[in-house]
Amino acid sequence: MNIDQINTVAIIGAGTMGSGISLCVAAAGYQANLFDVSDRQLEKALARVQSCQEVLIREGISSHEQARQSLARIHCYTDLGEAVAQAQFIIEAVPEELELKRRVFRQIEEACPPDAIRVTNTSGLSVSEITRESLSPELSAGMHWVNPPELVPLVEIIRGEKSSDETIGLIYELAVKLGKKPVLIQKEVPGIGLNRLQFALFREALGMVEEGVVSAEDVDRIMCYGLGFRYPWIGPLKTADLGGLDVFFEISKYLFQHLSDAKTPPPMLADLITAGHLGVKSGQGFYDYGQDAAGHILDRRDSSFIRQCRLMQEIDSED
Ligand SMILES: NC(=O)c1ccc[n+]([C@@H]2O[C@H](COP(=O)([O-])OP(=O)(O)OC[C@H]3O[C@@H](n4cnc5c(N)ncnc54)[C@H](O)[C@@H]3O)[C@@H](O)[C@H]2O)c1
Repeated sequence: MNIDQINTVAIIGAGTMGSGISLCVAAAGYQANLFDVSDRQLEKALARVQSCQEVLIREGISSHEQARQSLARIHCYTDLGEAVAQAQFIIEAVPEELELKRRVFRQIEEACPPDAIRVTNTSGLSVSEITRESLSPELSAGMHWVNPPELVPLVEIIRGEKSSDETIGLIYELAVKLGKKPVLIQKEVPGIGLNRLQFALFREALGMVEEGVVSAEDVDRIMCYGLGFRYPWIGPLKTADLGGLDVFFEISKYLFQHLSDAKTPPPMLADLITAGHLGVKSGQGFYDYGQDAAGHILDRRDSSFIRQCRLMQEIDSED
């Protein structure tokens, strides 16, 4: 198969990720067949797509007409066979449970065209394990989107033990056509790429707060106004190049030994969870958000991400 033969993408699982992925796929001009076991989830997914579109319209990224056309390209299914029968590319986004993903992959394989590409959006399970019983594992790989998937440019493509070069190449090409910035992860490692970096920072942030070095608010200020301010443009390795590798080497020699190497999450995090403080969704986490804050916070987050995307495109186009 080549990239021009792809016109229909099936998305299996219409939750947080599946709904955003279907919007991204439809906005790029593909038919998006969205499948879920639950009618109610499909309804919620379409409502989520429409609320994302409202933000895109408000920020001037999409017109009302473009949004209407994209929405019309999203077709909802509660029959898996119908959803995948005509799809050349299938994205699995069901909950993160190995047995469930294995079963869903088998069901997809039984119903999809024999040469269709099948990818999993797993956050950290092994692609090779998910497709272990597959008859054509060469057509599968990981395709890890980042939340909110319709906005964040990165997509990580994970090579399974048996993924073919052709499959990896096609996923890469499709990601580019969807407006993404793909990165190829050559080996299956827990946490893939982004989550390893994210959780290394999370562990260090938790450690500093627990030891009373800084408050939770100040950890976030250090990140947003310092490291995060630089990171959209200069990653940690280029930062070291700019600072001087000799300087970074000397700092690493004394600092690495003081960094957190905790093997389990700290009690502080477990205590918050036991108290029912789960973050925005419960109204309180490290911060107190109050009731009904989730919609407002997500809207604000999406608006700032859209502006950042625009700025990134502007700066990229100058290169
Ligand atoms: N949420 C994130 O930030 C994020 C980011 C990257 C990757 N992921 C990964 O994406 C996948 C989906 O995560 P999510 O956050 O969208 O989950 P979610 O719980 O929001 O959505 C999962 C959806 O799958 C549906 N489902 C359950 N069983 C199914 C089946 N047998 N067939 C079809 N649909 C079924 C559920 O009804 C639900 O709508 C997971 O593997 C997760 O690890 C999540």
